[in-house]
Amino acid sequence: MISSSSNCVGIILAGGSGSRLHPCTTVTNKHLLPIGEMPMIFYPIRKLVAAGVRDILIVTGTEHMGDFISLLGSGKDFECALTYRVQDEAGGIAQALALAERFTNGQPMCVMLGDNIFERPVNALIAQFLERADTAQILLKEVPDAERFGVAVMEGRRVVRIIEKPESPPSNYAVTGVYCYPPDVFDIIRTLAPSERGELEITDVNNAYLAQGRLHAAVLEGYWSDAGTFPSLARANELVRQSPPL
Ligand code: G1P
Repeated sequence: MISSSSNCVGIILAGGSGSRLHPCTTVTNKHLLPIGEMPMIFYPIRKLVAAGVRDILIVTGTEHMGDFISLLGSGKDFECALTYRVQDEAGGIAQALALAERFTNGQPMCVMLGDNIFERPVNALIAQFLERADTAQILLKEVPDAERFGVAVMEGRRVVRIIEKPESPPSNYAVTGVYCYPPDVFDIIRTLAPSERGELEITDVNNAYLAQGRLHAAVLEGYWSDAGTFPSLARANELVRQSPPL
């Protein structure tokens, strides 16, 4: 059994063209835009560090990598060690995650999409994941607009499948962008084929773990929002203004 989050590495995926936020993302990266009084990328870094994760990889594209490094540096201001990896071309979340293989060096990992803003700490969730060792973990959140997300198909309280952006959502449970994976996630990514939109989908990774009976789903308490569209960016700002994340 692995008992400390220090055995778990963090990966923050901060790539993408931010097309749904044009023209604000024409000359900068979505994750550098403000939420509350901080750049968006600060939130996932702080969540991971608060959970005891000290080694964090940031994956982003070539266009604004320099700005990430200027802003975040070595990570010493956050009490962590930051490593950077370039995603040459946008090819999906799973493709970005694949770039983390060497960094993880056989350790389990907590992966966060850099535009997910949420209230509660993830300490207990990471600790639970590490106790299960060989099982991946996703976090669900009930939302009114599930068609914008990966959505869980439920049988009772059990997740039986995940569908990426379904026209008619089979439940209100969105799969949030906070994932924990054992080191064999990279073997799974190698088996994936691009989806209809030409991307390696994180939903396919999660479905592969489900098929192997190795996916645990928990519900994320507190508020949660993505911030990749103007309405969700505004919502994330409002949530943080009303109650800064814990
Ligand atoms: C991505 C994932 C989706 C997940 C969402 C969470 O969607 O593909 O499964 O529910 O993040 O924020 P995207 O925001 O990249 O469209």
